[in-house]
Amino acid sequence: PANAPGPGLREPGSDEPSLDGAGLGGTPPSGAALAEAGLRLEVDGAVATVTLNRPERRNAMTFAMWRGLAAIGRSLPDAVRVVVLKGAGPSFSAGIDLTQFSENGFPIGADAEATDRFIAELQDAYTWLRRPEIVTIAAVHGHAIGGGFQLALACDLRVIADDTAFCMKEPALGLVPDLTGTKPLVEAVGLPRALELCLTARTVHAEEAARLGLAETLVPRGALDGAVADLVAALLAVDAGAAVATKRLLRQAPANTLEQQCAAERREQIGRFRALFAAR
Ligand code: ACO
Repeated sequence: PANAPGPGLREPGSDEPSLDGAGLGGTPPSGAALAEAGLRLEVDGAVATVTLNRPERRNAMTFAMWRGLAAIGRSLPDAVRVVVLKGAGPSFSAGIDLTQFSENGFPIGADAEATDRFIAELQDAYTWLRRPEIVTIAAVHGHAIGGGFQLALACDLRVIADDTAFCMKEPALGLVPDLTGTKPLVEAVGLPRALELCLTARTVHAEEAARLGLAETLVPRGALDGAVADLVAALLAVDAGAAVATKRLLRQAPANTLEQQCAAERREQIGRFRALFAAR
């Protein structure tokens, strides 16, 4: 079945709290299963906070963590309008847990279709962050490397602390960035700069990152939580239906012609008129 766990996503013989099926049909993953995957989820009304929680490993990302993120995405309560992603400890995330490469189950064999499915399942951890029903904020501090940088890029907005260090490390390891990050990176900084950043795998520190458009807000480390709280409050102050429709509209703008985008604006506005008049 399409939703079955992919190869290598679960350790053989594991009797740990299971993420199997979590998020499917809206069933939220248990706190224990998330904790086992190095994640914490707090839902407070319209705001969900997802914490990467393996600080002793700099929030290095395992297959279980990616499955947990995907399960959170599938099972978010309808009332949630804003999702904040952050990292516990000194770093946002050190990217893929490098021990995963040497473990059994990493599908680097000749079966291209199985590998394609495997990577697609990992990408599920990232794609839901674009859904129009929610606005996603990466609250970044410390290192955000590889898959961690791509997680920040998958969010709609990035609030970064002045100790942030982004690095697209994959090419230095002989890989390509494949966790949905190449499109938002090019959209944020343009093709030449994206090429330069990826092909040198250099580290971009906070001030340059903000200048390049990799962050909307740059604050001192101690002000990160407050800046995120202010942004969340501002986002929640706007009409919920208009926010969803506007995100849907803006998201499609880069791929649309002007004509298509004008038509999309009219369509969304008709929906808004209907909703507003129905509420009277
Ligand atoms: N995978 C597995 N373990 C990791 C990772 C990782 N990606 N990153 C850090 N750790 C572990 C370290 O091995 C160390 O373990 P130890 O305490 O048993 O020695 C612990 O986390 C703390 O890491 P330090 O290196 O001591 O922490 P420091 O703050 O000095 O440096 C940094 C942090 C810069 C993130 C460094 O750990 C690092 O370069 N990590 C590797 C980054 C990387 O190459 N990621 C892969 C990117 S490609 C991709 O994501 C697809």
